[in-house]
Amino acid sequence: MSTERGQMLLEARNIVKKFGGVVALRGVNFKVHYQEIVGLVGDNGAGKSTLIKVISGVYPPEEGEIYFEGRRVFFSTPREARDAGIETVYQDLALAPNMDASMNVFIGREVVRRDWKVFRTLDKKKMFEETKRVLRDILGVHVEDNAIRSPVLSLSGGQRQCVAIARAIYSAPKLLIMDEPTAAISVKERRKVLDLMLNLKQRGISIIFISHTLEEIFSVADRIVVLNRGNLVRDVPKEQTSIEDVVTAMVSGSSQNSDLR
Ligand SMILES: Nc1ncnc2c1ncn2[C@@H]1O[C@H](COP(=O)(O)OP(=O)(O)O)[C@@H](O)[C@H]1O
Ligand SMILES: [Mg+2]
Repeated sequence: MSTERGQMLLEARNIVKKFGGVVALRGVNFKVHYQEIVGLVGDNGAGKSTLIKVISGVYPPEEGEIYFEGRRVFFSTPREARDAGIETVYQDLALAPNMDASMNVFIGREVVRRDWKVFRTLDKKKMFEETKRVLRDILGVHVEDNAIRSPVLSLSGGQRQCVAIARAIYSAPKLLIMDEPTAAISVKERRKVLDLMLNLKQRGISIIFISHTLEEIFSVADRIVVLNRGNLVRDVPKEQTSIEDVVTAMVSGSSQNSDLR
């Protein structure tokens, strides 16, 4: 079966992306399997955000091909990627600060044809209950009823992160992309977000996880991919590498596995 663990969910082949004279991605081959967490690392400017934006339909690549669930795809907007099952939680979360959690989970649904009806017919109570259900049953986090009803600006960084993730997974994506989800939250809450990622993986969702904190990457990722100046310089199962090796690849771009694709 194509959805079995270990099969390919996403494959980006030979991706080239330029911004004027800057070559942000130089022929990157990147893959994600079903039910896999891929840790994507690299120094500032290595091309991480550009790669996930190519995958999520923000930028069309100059060269290369993207396959999702075995079919070639051409996403020209994030909406098209979302409809195919690829959701992204951006670093700034893009929440509406003065609206409560449930409004944030449902906001923007009006642009999705399928959900427009849902948005219109859901009353506040229903949205509240749905939000609570996603947080509790899918994310496995407990958020007080009062917190769900408060403007998200009054929530902690970790709670806001949960709201952003709840919104992303409400549409049951197959691939969740998280660009530095732990960068702006407390140490205590970081562990919660990492546990939440493992929980989502158990539910069959694959995740691309970008972080500068290699300890976090090593604690949840199954495979680690290192970008260096637009080149993919490492692609290894976590068990076959070390923090030292990854740091070396990040800073020098030396490619121990130069034959990898
Ligand atoms: N919108 C953009 N316009 C021009 N250059 C960009 C743009 N986005 C990224 N770049 C350049 O592409 C390279 C890769 O950037 P980025 O993907 O943001 O790296 P990372 O996320 O790994 O820090 C950098 O040289 C950056 O300056
Ligand atoms: Mg970035």
